[in-house]
Amino acid sequence: MYFLGLSVIVAEFAGRLDLARSQYTFSVVTMGGAGGSSALRQLDGILKKKHGNGLDAGFIVKMPGNYILKNGSPAGTKRERILSAADEQLKRIGVDVKSATKTALPYSLFAQLIHGVFYPRFTSGVHQDDRWFSVSNACTSCGTCRAICPVGNIDLVDGRPVWKHNCELCCGCIHICPTGAIQAGKKTEGRTRYINPDVKVADLQAQRGNSQ
Ligand SMILES: Cc1cc2nc3c(=O)[nH]c(=O)nc-3n(C[C@H](O)[C@H](O)[C@H](O)COP(=O)(O)O)c2cc1C
Ligand code: SF4
Ligand code: SF4
Repeated sequence: MYFLGLSVIVAEFAGRLDLARSQYTFSVVTMGGAGGSSALRQLDGILKKKHGNGLDAGFIVKMPGNYILKNGSPAGTKRERILSAADEQLKRIGVDVKSATKTALPYSLFAQLIHGVFYPRFTSGVHQDDRWFSVSNACTSCGTCRAICPVGNIDLVDGRPVWKHNCELCCGCIHICPTGAIQAGKKTEGRTRYINPDVKVADLQAQRGNSQ
C-alpha cells in the first residue's frame, strides 16, 4: 500500500493483467501503518473495469513501514514482532488461497474518503519525487543503489548516483545503501533504514538484470 492505494507501477501492472482464464483471483496487500482496504478496493476496481470480475479474496499484512520520507522504520524487537506476526498470518492466508476461499473485501469509509482526496495528489507527481534525493560523501561508489532500482532510475556518474526522474518512490535505494549516504530532503538523516531479512541484495540484482 502506497499513499492508501496501490503503488503506481502496481496499478499499471494490474491494468495489463490478462485474467481471462483465471479461476480465482486474490491479492495480498502489505502496509506499514493501518488500513489497506482502500488499496484492495482500488485493485478490485481496476480488475472489474477490465474483466467484469474483481478479486475473489483480499488480505492485508502489516509489515515494517518503509516510507522513510515520513518515518524511520521500526527496529529491534518491534521489527521482529511485526515480521513474525506477518509470517504467521501468511500461513493462514496460504491455507485460504489453497482452498480458493472467497472473502468479502474489507471496507472503511474513512479510508475511502482519505484515498479519494490524497491518492491522486501524492501519486500525480511521484516519478519526479526523486528531485529531493541527494548523496553524501559517505558514498563509496559501490553501485548497489543503481543495481537494485526496480525501474532503472539511477545512473552512476563519476561513481555517484544520479536520479533520472522516473522514480516509483519505493525508497529501496535509500534503505539499501550500505553507508546511509542517500537522503531525501533533510528529514531522512538518522532515520532507521530497513531491508527485509529474507531479501538478499544479490537476488534483487539478478532479478533486475543489473550488475554493479
Ligand atoms: C511512498 C510510500 C507510501 C506509503 N504509504 C503507506 C500508506 O499510506 N499506508 C501504510 O500503511 N503504509 C504505507 N507505506 C508503507 C508500505 O506500504 C509498507 O512498508 C510495505 O510493506 C511496502 O512493501 P514493499 O516493501 O514490498 O514495497 C508506504 C510506503 C511508501 C514507500
Ligand atoms: S548504494 Fe550508497 S554507497 Fe553505493 S553507490 Fe549508491 S549511494 Fe553510493
Ligand atoms: S530505488 Fe530509488 S530511484 Fe529507484 S524507484 Fe526506488 S526510490 Fe526511486
